[in-house]
Amino acid sequence: MNKYLVIGNPISHSLSPKLHNYWFKQNKIKAEYEKRKLNDMDLGNVILEIKRNKINGLNVTIPFKNKIIPFLDDLTYESKVTQSVNTIYLEKDKVVGHNTDIYGFKKSLEKVNFDLTNKSIFILGAGGVVPSIIFALNEMKVSEIFLSNRTKEKAENLKKMFANLEVLDWGNIPNFDVIINATSIGLKNDDLIDLDLSKTGKNKLFYDLIYNPTETNFLKVAKKQGNIFENGKLMFVYQAFQAFKIWHGLEPEINNELLDLLNE
Ligand code: ATR
Repeated sequence: MNKYLVIGNPISHSLSPKLHNYWFKQNKIKAEYEKRKLNDMDLGNVILEIKRNKINGLNVTIPFKNKIIPFLDDLTYESKVTQSVNTIYLEKDKVVGHNTDIYGFKKSLEKVNFDLTNKSIFILGAGGVVPSIIFALNEMKVSEIFLSNRTKEKAENLKKMFANLEVLDWGNIPNFDVIINATSIGLKNDDLIDLDLSKTGKNKLFYDLIYNPTETNFLKVAKKQGNIFENGKLMFVYQAFQAFKIWHGLEPEINNELLDLLNE
């Protein structure tokens, strides 16, 4: 039986097995998808398992999206630019790393029907997924990207990858059309971002990459002020959709049953 894995540390929270195993069943594919908690020193061996066809595909999550790169034979353009890999497959005996977070983010915005062309974007945070967000925003032809991170040095490092970033000190809030929470603030229900977003007006898009809990305080503020808001669930689903398509050559169905499954 073909075998797929998501690797990370921690990994117990990952919903990827639920999603992929649902699609296996729906498409009558005889395969299994599991999660595996790894340490840095295990990365080489898991890639060997791909080379030896013991594992047929790999998803990579925190904290290995960048650390896995030295073990791969090839990177797609997207993963090279972002230095971030979340999907791995074997192609002509070469282990290839790709980044489907970019597709996931873009597709989720299409679904909420929010056109980002010429929009002004404000990103909070500079963690592992942010290069993918910036790459996608640039493809969507936004007009400007402001970014603020508590530790400014990390924001400055991102500017070395993406010259069009405008780095702001934490606490400064520019005029924006779209604000994206890419920090980990909100993972706990009572988490609150220490920024005053009450003067930002209506009809902006508040996007939280967090999807569990489904409504962070950041999104609650957005709702109260009459803004459009979206959590990271669709991005998560669509990154998995593209990984599935790469591995199995078909497009799995995204329906309400599937979306509900992720809330259980
Ligand atoms: P990843 O593992 O995806 O790379 P991370 O590096 O843990 O994620 O990133 C978490 C993000 O949340 C970082 O931008 C972090 O800011 P720092 O770089 O200053 O650590 C941000 N973050 C976490 N807790 C925060 C807090 N209390 N206030 C402001 N930012 C916070």
